[in-house]
Amino acid sequence: MVKRIFILLILAYFCYSFLVYTKSAKETEQPTDQAIAGLSIWQSRNCQACHQLYGLGGYMGPDLTNIISDSTKGALFAKSLLIAGSPRMPNFNLSETDITNLLAFLSWVDKSGKTAVPAEKVTWYGNYNIDNQ
Ligand code: HEC
Repeated sequence: MVKRIFILLILAYFCYSFLVYTKSAKETEQPTDQAIAGLSIWQSRNCQACHQLYGLGGYMGPDLTNIISDSTKGALFAKSLLIAGSPRMPNFNLSETDITNLLAFLSWVDKSGKTAVPAEKVTWYGNYNIDNQ
């Protein structure tokens, strides 16, 4: 009896592994040249020291993963912060091109996923269902 359960569990493990590895994840669109340039500014200015992407990074500033599609914020709001800074965020004196590139980068990040896992995406067995994002 114990042997059968053991064999059943091993079979279930292989079937589940097969399903997980053969199911293709959502393809993220390729970043534009502007977004790539924005990433290098993001890195050289060390934005991640204070901001998170996908929930990872510093916690002084807010998570920026979905700021572009956030209906209460968006690109214009982000741009104003980048132009002027705030009492808590330094003004980096970025050029117009740098700001455009940073916004292109943030917009690319925004399309690649969500920071918070919406409750309806969590399956009954606790996994995050990434289909139809
Ligand atoms: C020293 C820490 C620090 C660094 C470095 C920093 N920020 Fe910020 N940032 C903040 C804080 C704090 C806020 C919140 C500002 C406020 O509410 O006054 C903020 C706000 C923002 C916002 C608006 C977000 C929102 O939801 O309100 C954007 C966009 C932003 N930062 C982009 C950047 C980018 C791009 C960089 C790199 C060039 C950067 N920040 C570097 C601290 C930082």
